[in-house]
Amino acid sequence: MKESHSRSIAKGVSWRVLGTLDTTAIAWLVTGSPLKALSIGGIEVFTKIFLYYFHERIWQRVKWGKPRQTHQTHQTNQTPQTHQTIQTLQTNQTPQTPTHIHPTFDQMLSRDERQQFLRQKSKVIWLTGLSGSGKSTIGHALERKLMENGYFAQMLDGDNIRSGINSNLGFSLEDRQENIRRIAEVAKLYCHSGVVTICTFISPTREIRQYAKDIIGAEDFIEVYVNAPLEVCEERDVKGLYQKARKGEIKEFTGIDSPYEAPEHPALELNTAEEPLETSVEKLFNYLQPHIRS
Ligand code: ADX
Repeated sequence: MKESHSRSIAKGVSWRVLGTLDTTAIAWLVTGSPLKALSIGGIEVFTKIFLYYFHERIWQRVKWGKPRQTHQTHQTNQTPQTHQTIQTLQTNQTPQTPTHIHPTFDQMLSRDERQQFLRQKSKVIWLTGLSGSGKSTIGHALERKLMENGYFAQMLDGDNIRSGINSNLGFSLEDRQENIRRIAEVAKLYCHSGVVTICTFISPTREIRQYAKDIIGAEDFIEVYVNAPLEVCEERDVKGLYQKARKGEIKEFTGIDSPYEAPEHPALELNTAEEPLETSVEKLFNYLQPHIRS
């Protein structure tokens, strides 16, 4: 890593203070005159600061004797990118483009071009609702229906994502927020790749969903409320989690001892306690068509 100019200067100053004290002491000993010793030290302090700075910068350019970048990478078992990101976080510096890396962002296909290839407009369909309300079931059925009808779609689901990229997160409100932040970033990448992206996450609070909307962009975010009363979800208890939550074996369970706030103005509401799956999927598909048709 190259050192900053200010760091080289700081090192020059600290080294000079030490060096000048040494020179002054020696000059005093040799000449026996404190006045001469102080003048030698006083002049030397300035000349040597400049000399040190240039000396340091010239050495920075000499590759000889420096550890090789690739060697360091193997030793620490990190990619250069990771290594730099961690250093950047620690030192709060702006990341620099690593040497021998040539980004080609400017040559990438644009979102418009991708949408034209796929003959569709991409959106993020954000399904929110209690655990057991039917988000994943609707999401899977919708994904299939979209593909069968010539759309290219991808679903991102809570349990799947939490078994991989977000496996280090729990269910405190902070962790849920981080869960949603990462998902929203991923969904945005999919959406900008032209894909109709279906997200099925409890995303329990209005604030958390607003956060996702802000990341994804309001124009691409379609909020769908998968509504089933808590009693119905608890009665279904597909994964047996409500029972465990009631017994206190699972803490911070949404609807039991962790809040769920229903959306105030969802683009669409599906009442899964009142209608069969096919009806909900049909409604959602029909609602989406004008938004995703090219
Ligand atoms: S969110 O609140 O952060 O959006 P997410 O949708 O990712 O939640 O995950 C919810 C799924 O995790 C549920 O469907 C359920 O299977 C499982 N789960 C495990 N513990 C909890 C809990 N304490 N609260 C809610 N869901 C939980």
